[in-house]
Order: sequence, then structure tokens, then C-alpha cells
Amino acid sequence: MQHFLSTESWSQHSLQEMIDFAKALKNNKFQPLLKEKSVALLFFNPSLRTRTSFELGVHQLGGQAVILQPGKDAWPIEFELGSIMDGEAEEHIKEVAQVLSSYCDLIAVRAFPKFESWQEDRQDKLIKSLAHFSSVPVINMETITHPCQELAHIMALQENLGDLKGKKYVLTWTYHPKPLNTAVANSALMIASKFGMDVTLLCPNDDYVLDEHYMALGQSYSAQHGHQLTVSHDIDSAYQGADVVYAKSWGALPYFGQWEKEKPIRDQYKHFMVDEAKMAKTNNALFSHCLPLRRNIKASDEVVDSKNCIAIEEAGNRLHVQKSIMNTLINHS
Ligand code: CP
Repeated sequence: MQHFLSTESWSQHSLQEMIDFAKALKNNKFQPLLKEKSVALLFFNPSLRTRTSFELGVHQLGGQAVILQPGKDAWPIEFELGSIMDGEAEEHIKEVAQVLSSYCDLIAVRAFPKFESWQEDRQDKLIKSLAHFSSVPVINMETITHPCQELAHIMALQENLGDLKGKKYVLTWTYHPKPLNTAVANSALMIASKFGMDVTLLCPNDDYVLDEHYMALGQSYSAQHGHQLTVSHDIDSAYQGADVVYAKSWGALPYFGQWEKEKPIRDQYKHFMVDEAKMAKTNNALFSHCLPLRRNIKASDEVVDSKNCIAIEEAGNRLHVQKSIMNTLINHS
């Protein structure tokens, strides 16, 4: 049995097979691949795209989705092993995993970091515990990475650019008034380098560089394709000649739990917003973002409304790649 917790444990070839099947599903939406199967979708955090696309995807494949929001319409869940449960949580992930496994054929979970300690959050304990105690495959719907978004992103890039090898890919930090999850940035770095793109991470200063684990993976994948992962704090040179600009905002890792200290620093970098002047320096680059996106904060109206913006296509592809992932885990693992 295989889980889909991170693309890290899947080869480029296996991921490409899932993307290729997603492209086939895009032209043939309704196939009984999950007939008489059920999928539990556990949401600890809000969602528009993930929730809609998973629920519809299960339906289109003939299965049944059950959506649960622990702490709202389901019991709050504890996930620390050995904890004395004298707080809010009414049940433990150990029981949750076993009970849901007895009802369902797949469990998918969204559980963002708590943003109090990166050393704690980077361990991704909740999904790892769930996978450990589950007897059915588990899918990551975003924890400290966002692997479903990765496949939708690569699919949209391939649909627009064909072969991605050697294309200049700029993952740019962009401003947001709140410190956000690094999950999509970690994921973008991994998947772009894994698929052979020449990746530049553009961020305001060294505090915004991503976790060493994902930087090392990006470096290793880049080296396998003859590239070097570049870190830049210089907007002009980073955008120069780019084929793809992917924007995301995230909180600086050294300031986890001290966000009041990070805010005045972050507020100095509002000019990282993606705008037409920056895009004009590129090689007519495609622009994308995982969404949701604050217009004229993260990217200007002109960029988001331009023909080069593929954010809607990427969001649309979430439906197809997730159906392909579910089919792989249930029928081929
Ligand atoms: N990109 C993404 O996962 O969107 P939602 O947070 O709306 O699910």
C-alpha cells in the first residue's frame, strides 16, 4: 500500500504517469474507477478548491466522499502520541485512523502547521500518525507540502510549454499581510527542480529561504538535471529571461511564534508584488499562483488578468490530477 504524502517518495516517472492519466481524464470525466469506494476528506483548515475538486472528483469516478471538519462538525482530534488528553481534543488520531479505515477506502487530510514552532511543524506529525495507523492509503491535501497542487501545476505548465527541461523557473516570494504556510513554496521548489527546470528562488533576504530539507532536495534534483538551484534577493536579475513566474507568500522560518517581530520586516517588501514591469523583464513568462490570491497585493490586476496567467487552468487541473492520484492508490498500489 502506498500513501501520497509528498512527491518526495514518488519518482518523476510515476508522477508523470499520474499526470498523463489526468490528461486523459480531462477529456473523459466520468469513469467508474471508484465504484463502490468511499473517501474520507478531513479538513482541519478552510478550502475552496481542494474541497470542491476532491468531492466532485470522487463523485465523477462513481465513489462516495465524506467531508469531516474536526473541531467543527467532527470531534477535535489529538495527534501527539502518549499525550494526556485534558485539553479540547475528544479523540486520538490512532482511533480516528482505524475507524475511518474500517469505513473508507482512502483518507485525505488537510492540516496546516500551527505556526508556533517550525521545528515542531516541520515534523508533519499529524499526517504521519494518520498514515501510520491507517490501513488504507492517505493523501496529503496540504500540510507542510501540497503535492496535489504540484501535479496540477506541472500539468498546466506542460500543457502550455511542452517539455519543461531547462526552462527558467522563478519561485518568487510575494507580499501578504499575514505570515502564510511554506507548503506551496516547498512543493514548487521540489517539483520544478524534479522536472528539470532551472530554478531560482527569489525572496527578500536569507530569513525567507525555505527549510533546509526542501532546499537540499531542490539542489539534489537540480544537480541531476545539470542545474544549480539559485537563491536570489535581486528582483531584476531573477526575473530576467524567466519562462515561468510562480508567486507565493510565506512567513520567515526564524520568526515562527514571534510574528509580531516579523511583520515590520515583511512590510518592507511590499514591492515584491508581481506586476507588469517585472513580467516585462521575462521571456514572455507564464505566471501562476496556487490561489487564493489577494489582487494588487500579491500580484497586480494586469498580471492576473493577462493571457500569460494560468492560475485558473492550474486550479482546474486539481480535479483531474486528484482523480488520477486516487485511481493510482486504490487500483494500482
Ligand atoms: N490551492 C488550494 O489548495 O486552494 P484551497 O485552499 O482553496 O483548497
